[in-house]
Amino acid sequence: MRKNRRQWTNLTQRRSPNSVDPPRPNNYFTAMSILPIVHIPDPVLRRKSQPIERVDDDLRKFLDDMLETMYDAPGIGLAAVQVGEPLRIFTVDCAQRSEDEEEAGDGQPIRESDQDSDREPERNPIFLINPEIVSFSDERSVYEEGCLSIPDYYADVERPAACTVKYIDRDGEQQILEADGLLATVIQHEYDHLNGVLFVDHISKLKRDMVIRKFTKIAKQSGKSFIG
Ligand code: NI
Repeated sequence: MRKNRRQWTNLTQRRSPNSVDPPRPNNYFTAMSILPIVHIPDPVLRRKSQPIERVDDDLRKFLDDMLETMYDAPGIGLAAVQVGEPLRIFTVDCAQRSEDEEEAGDGQPIRESDQDSDREPERNPIFLINPEIVSFSDERSVYEEGCLSIPDYYADVERPAACTVKYIDRDGEQQILEADGLLATVIQHEYDHLNGVLFVDHISKLKRDMVIRKFTKIAKQSGKSFIG
């Protein structure tokens, strides 16, 4: 559904300073690209991401590329900083994961057995721009999390079992989402990325130091050097 001009104008006024451009008609036909994912210890992952000031076609193209990158990885959540852009946006799609599964974060591959191979994978992408978690449940839950920026490492993380998140969607509309189960965990994991926080910050210092050391060694071996 397209929005008419008047609605867009109202939206812009209501949410100033954010401004919104309506999508161009050819928007959905633009080719998508897979973006390179950065790994720890790249210092960009520790940066605080900056708010989006304008929802326009350039941003929508970037969001679509992020989504494609997330599906390709494959992952169920991806923050912009993970592709080297410290902006307050992330994509999520938990459609193929049932809520009672034990793993979360953005790094879990979707198992073959979860899918009927004859069918198109079910997709339910959510684009969250300038998200704000406005409430958390007192109840807590534990998921085994993974992260596309820390490949092949998983650990149990305890977080609030449910949360409510306010955000601006891909069309520039304000949304509010009450999430529980896997979705609540993924949202909190991705939201952490916007503040330079990684899921390994929620585990013991001993385990965290071990995984960071391992990835620092891998980075050195591959000739990458990180300052800071
Ligand atoms: Ni992650």
